[in-house]
Amino acid sequence: MASPLCRLAPIWLLPLLARTVIAAPPHPMITPPPDLKNRVIETRDLDPGSYINSVIDGLGSDVSSYVASGVAQFFQDFPTGSAVESSLGISDSDLAPSPTHVLNIPAYGNWTEQGWNVRVHGNVYKQPNISEEKLDDLANVFLIGTDIDELTIPEQRQARNLTAEIFVVQQKDRNVTINFVNDVDVRPDASGGVINAEGGAQSLSMPYLTTDEGDFDSFIVLQNTTGPDGGHLIAGNATTSIQALNMYANGTNTGNATAYLVPPTGFTIISDIDDILRVTKIYDPKEGLLNSFARAFTPWMNMPDIYANWSATIPDFHFHYLTTTPEQVTRNYMEFIYKTYPLGSFDTRPLNFSDVSATLSIRKALLDKIFQTFPQRKFVLVADTSNSDVMKDYPQLVRDYPGQVQCIFLRNTTATDDSDLFPYDTSGFDGIDQKQYMFFVTPDDLRSVDIVGGNCYNPAVIQNVTFGYQGRGFGNAASSTMRWDWSWSWLPVMMALCFSLV
Ligand SMILES: *[C@@H]1O[C@H](CO)[C@@H](O)[C@H](O)[C@H]1NC(C)=O
Ligand SMILES: *[C@@H]1O[C@H](CO)[C@@H](O)[C@H](O)[C@H]1NC(C)=O
Ligand SMILES: *[C@@H]1O[C@H](CO)[C@@H](O)[C@H](O)[C@H]1NC(C)=O
Ligand SMILES: *[C@@H]1O[C@H](CO)[C@@H](O)[C@H](O)[C@H]1NC(C)=O
Ligand SMILES: *[C@@H]1O[C@H](CO)[C@@H](O)[C@H](O)[C@H]1NC(C)=O
Ligand SMILES: *[C@@H]1O[C@H](CO)[C@@H](O)[C@H](O)[C@H]1NC(C)=O
Ligand SMILES: *[C@@H]1O[C@H](CO)[C@@H](O)[C@H](O)[C@H]1NC(C)=O
Ligand SMILES: *[C@@H]1O[C@H](CO)[C@@H](O)[C@H](O)[C@H]1NC(C)=O
Ligand SMILES: *[C@@H]1O[C@H](CO)[C@@H](O)[C@H](O)[C@H]1NC(C)=O
Ligand SMILES: *[C@@H]1O[C@H](CO)[C@@H](O)[C@H](O)[C@H]1NC(C)=O
Ligand SMILES: *[C@@H]1O[C@H](CO)[C@@H](O)[C@H](O)[C@H]1NC(C)=O
Ligand SMILES: *[C@@H]1O[C@H](CO)[C@@H](O)[C@H](O)[C@H]1NC(C)=O
Repeated sequence: MASPLCRLAPIWLLPLLARTVIAAPPHPMITPPPDLKNRVIETRDLDPGSYINSVIDGLGSDVSSYVASGVAQFFQDFPTGSAVESSLGISDSDLAPSPTHVLNIPAYGNWTEQGWNVRVHGNVYKQPNISEEKLDDLANVFLIGTDIDELTIPEQRQARNLTAEIFVVQQKDRNVTINFVNDVDVRPDASGGVINAEGGAQSLSMPYLTTDEGDFDSFIVLQNTTGPDGGHLIAGNATTSIQALNMYANGTNTGNATAYLVPPTGFTIISDIDDILRVTKIYDPKEGLLNSFARAFTPWMNMPDIYANWSATIPDFHFHYLTTTPEQVTRNYMEFIYKTYPLGSFDTRPLNFSDVSATLSIRKALLDKIFQTFPQRKFVLVADTSNSDVMKDYPQLVRDYPGQVQCIFLRNTTATDDSDLFPYDTSGFDGIDQKQYMFFVTPDDLRSVDIVGGNCYNPAVIQNVTFGYQGRGFGNAASSTMRWDWSWSWLPVMMALCFSLV
């Protein structure tokens, strides 16, 4: 599913909107500020310091400044670089002595004519030294309806940790060098078909300097060097196993990750994280915020058993975790995943996807990239119904890459959770063979599916799919009077509606 953060705003607005639908006077006065749309979307035009301050101030009772300051954008577009410096009152020279950190995101690589081709991606940044008092102020921004003082000690620690991760200063024009090393400690229980690479150790620089937002993301080709025991990398067309090689960003001990060299054929699972692998309740804003910013990450029911079984029973199953949560919180997601679910490669939302239209397309861009990197592999796609992008992108992949989508599994969050008022669109599934997808309710519904055999539907799980918008939260009256194309471009309009009516 999409990031808890990027989707919060519309969700947060839903109960309000639902209220306006039910309680609106017959002729409501709707007078949105004329340039509201631009003001919400173009946050980068705002002075970053006053932007952040106004977000903080705006969380008081003054909802109009909440709108004007673009708080919706704030949740999907954390401040970067100079916006962070300015909000903390620091400069580049204050930061100069601080060590440079590298977020190195576990990579996948494909087999090409030139050899193993690895997509190395991540971010270079510095961590400002923020006083605890300031950190608490900033953390309170994310804790709508509660204060950090009201949290337990571990929750306070988590809230400060996440807040510090968001308020980092990304470093542009950096030359990133990655040292590949044969020292993976493969956990047999958690690694499925992953084996240690026996060669391929080397040091490679990224072909480009980091972007303005500190990101790096390129494919680089590994040389077939001789390993410590005289071994080599196995050619991709000579093995079905996934070979793992550790990668260390040079000059820091914060940039450790693993690269997975994935053969051309076989099965890859692309799994979302929020509300499918962990409890987020993104559709319930207050809970979503607490679950994202304060509470320890918790697995969703017995989902870890299902993934462990798939890892053990599906030969050489490649796990790829793809969430559109902002890149700044990647470490927390990775730490949770790797202690709870099988090892695998990872994708989060790069920082250059920041405006609203790019936010809408990021998941598809990341999905296209992995599909095109493995044109002969078959993919299992997993997420939940509360992501509007998933609901559109997953069925679209069936059409865009014929024969490559093996199964789509979508948890119906509405079925188990009364607080999920988030509408979703099932129309993309119209015409897709029922054997290829299933809406399910609990992890146990997935036990008897046959992924390898292509029977992805468990007939015991009654499907209630009517193809179109499913807008439970709005009730019948609402859905008959309010039919709109549910997309993020409506967000400013919705915000205007909400705030002028409540
Ligand atoms: C394996 O791939 C390499 C590089 O693409 C190619 O040169 C070689 O002929 C292939 N071997 C087999 C057995 O297909
Ligand atoms: C951070 O700042 C505090 C004082 O504000 C200082 O005591 C502490 O040593 C600093 N920490 C680092 C890592 O610079
Ligand atoms: C926050 O916690 C994560 C996961 O435990 C850790 O990797 C990261 O270094 C911490 N970040 C900060 C800024 O303390
Ligand atoms: C990065 O540094 C390496 C080693 O000094 C150098 O060979 C390479 O050209 C540099 N890359 C870029 C993009 O400047
Ligand atoms: C690497 O070289 C070894 C020994 O020459 C060879 O057996 C192996 O297939 C090569 N692997 C790759 C990935 O080219
Ligand atoms: C790797 O980092 C060390 C210092 O940590 C530095 O001396 C060396 O030049 C770096 N190598 C490359 C290729 O960047
Ligand atoms: C990264 O790897 C280096 C070398 O093995 C190690 O010294 C360091 O502690 C590791 N860093 C983290 C955060 O695990
Ligand atoms: C963001 O960067 C990636 C490469 O890192 C690129 O593929 C993508 O097109 C960029 N997106 C935008 C919106 O600029
Ligand atoms: C490997 O991945 C790259 C990058 O996505 C892609 O352009 C290329 O076609 C892939 N090669 C093969 C042989 O699949
Ligand atoms: C999801 O669950 C709700 C509540 O049980 C039901 O009304 C809806 O039809 C289900 N949607 C799908 C796609 O199964
Ligand atoms: C379909 O509807 C039935 C009856 O409301 C419900 O028990 C079941 O969980 C729903 N199925 C899904 C996949 O939501
Ligand atoms: C484990 O997965 C296999 C298919 O990969 C399936 O046949 C089996 O029923 C699953 N078992 C459990 C206990 O989930």
